[in-house]
This record gives sequence, C-alpha cells and structure tokens, in this order.
Amino acid sequence: MRYLKNIFFVLVMVSLLVVPAMAKPIKIRFSHVVSPETPKGKAANYLKEILEERTGGKIKVEVYPNSSLYNDKEAIKALKMDVIQLACPSFSKFTAYVKQLQIFDLPFLFKSVDSLHKFQDSEYGKKMLKLVEKRGLVGLAYWDNGFKVLSNNVRPIVKPEDAKGIKFRIMSSKVLEEQFKALNAIPVTMSFSEVYTALQQGVVDGAENPWSNYYTKKFYEVQKYTTVSYHGYLGYMLVTNKKIVMKLKKAGLYDTFLKAVKDATEYERKLAKEMDDYYYKKVKESGKTQVIELTDAQKEPFRKLFKEKVYPKFYKIIGKDMIEAAASF
Ligand code: LMR
Repeated sequence: MRYLKNIFFVLVMVSLLVVPAMAKPIKIRFSHVVSPETPKGKAANYLKEILEERTGGKIKVEVYPNSSLYNDKEAIKALKMDVIQLACPSFSKFTAYVKQLQIFDLPFLFKSVDSLHKFQDSEYGKKMLKLVEKRGLVGLAYWDNGFKVLSNNVRPIVKPEDAKGIKFRIMSSKVLEEQFKALNAIPVTMSFSEVYTALQQGVVDGAENPWSNYYTKKFYEVQKYTTVSYHGYLGYMLVTNKKIVMKLKKAGLYDTFLKAVKDATEYERKLAKEMDDYYYKKVKESGKTQVIELTDAQKEPFRKLFKEKVYPKFYKIIGKDMIEAAASF
C-alpha cells in the first residue's frame, strides 16, 4: 500500500511539473480592425491555422477582427506592452512612431501593385521594415490591400475642383491631410471603427478606401458618389514585439513562425488582388452608389496637383531620395 502511495505521489509530482510545461502553448493575440472577409482578415486566420498546425498546438493564436479588441492606435500601444503579439496596421497608423512610413500614403507614387512590391522587396523596403525596431517593435512583412477610391455625398468628383469644401475622413497621416488640403477639401482624422456612423450621420461627407474595406464595411451604402481614382494605396505592416520573438526563439519555434509569416504573406498578396476585383464588382452591382471611373487623362490633373503641392512638403521628413527611388520602381 505504502509502495503504491509513493508511486502515486511521484506521478502527481511529475504531472504537476512536466505536463503543464508541455501543455501550455505560447499564446499570440492578433488584433486588427477590418472584417474577416478582407485580404488582411483572411490572411490573419490563415496564419493562425498554419501556425497552430505546424507547431502541433505549441503556438495558439487568437484573432480579434473588426476592432473588437483595439482600434489601430491602441493596438500599437498594446503590442509594445505585449498585451497583444501581432498587429497589422496600415502605414498611416505608424505616423507617430516612424514618419518615413508615410511614403506609402503619397498619392500617385506607385505606378502599379507590381512596382509597389518591387519597392517593398528592395533594400529600401527592407530598411523601412527595420525602422520600427527603434520603437520596440519587429517589422515582419508587408501586407496588401489595394488602391483607394474617393467617395462622398456632396457631388460627383471628376476634377480636383469638385472636392472643394467636402469633409473627408482620413487616417492619422500628415500626407493624407496635405492631400485633401491640396484639393481645398477638409480632412478629418478618425479611427476606422467610427467611419460608417460618421458617413451615415453626415459628420463627414466622404472617405477614401480600397474596395474590400469599402464593401465589407458597407460604406458604399451611405455614399452617393464613388470616384475610381486609385490615387493612393492602402497597405500594411505586419508587426510583432521583441518579447514574443525572444519567447519563440527560446522555445525553438521562431523559424517555424517566420516561415508561416512568409507563407501567409504570399497568400495575402494573392488574395488582395483577387478580392480587389471581386469587391469592385460587388459595389458596382449593388447599384447603391454612382460609380465614376476616371480615365488616365482625367487622373492627370490630380497627379500633377499632388506632385506639386504635396510631395515637396515631405522631402525632408521622408527623404527626397527615398521618394524618387520609390517612384522609379
Ligand atoms: C483605415 O483606417 O481606413 C484602414 O487602415 C483600415 C484597415 O486596416 O484597412
């Protein structure tokens, strides 16, 4: 009997010491602001799936979409404090931390998604990923959304003058502020989660969004006019923090983590392209907003205005060489 009791005691001790250590997964909370039906939303879920599968459950990922945990501004703070371990804010949301990332907001800078990718994959792009490190973050990858359309409830916008006096919601970015000022419009900074109500209640008249956000958040239902201007690009940086990197390295899981990020990034890029076309059609088919497609000639006055009025204001902040390099890809 005594012998059995001893064995039982040993087994309990072993289970207390070993089992929890083996069974307790590393938890990664991923907070974002968009719908799960967008490229970012889908890729976040895909990353969860492959990370959990490839590590046999040693990593457990919780994804919080639709600003259900934090809006983007709060998310960067929470990430720094290790309350969450992954975020994927648009470049504008880094303005307070890394001003150079506003380069991606410059209207008509990138000729196409391909030239944008070339820039992101170049030494310049890699250098930019590193810039967030000074802020205690770790830049992992660039994720895509798409080029933005300009919507409003006042009048159809075909020429730059048409935007005069219209109140547009913007993300917190000096570039976007200057872009709307150049149009003699009124920029209003607001978090993404507030946009629908603000458009519906007339707090602002308009906004700029890529198709997937425009459709999945139903903004098109409360916007009379949608100009397909593709003037600027909306993309993201997938970021984590140094604490979780250390934890993953210690557990021998960092390489698996990085490989999963790489695969999710490829998936995300592909998806962004497909979904852009898909949601463009969905908005058009809805018949809820008048879609105005600008020709290249109609885009030209916008391009000229922004290049003359907006770019020079950022030569010092972003770097003229960097802007010129980006334009050359
Ligand atoms: C926005 O605030 O409009 C975007 O950054 C939302 C997003 O993450 O796509």
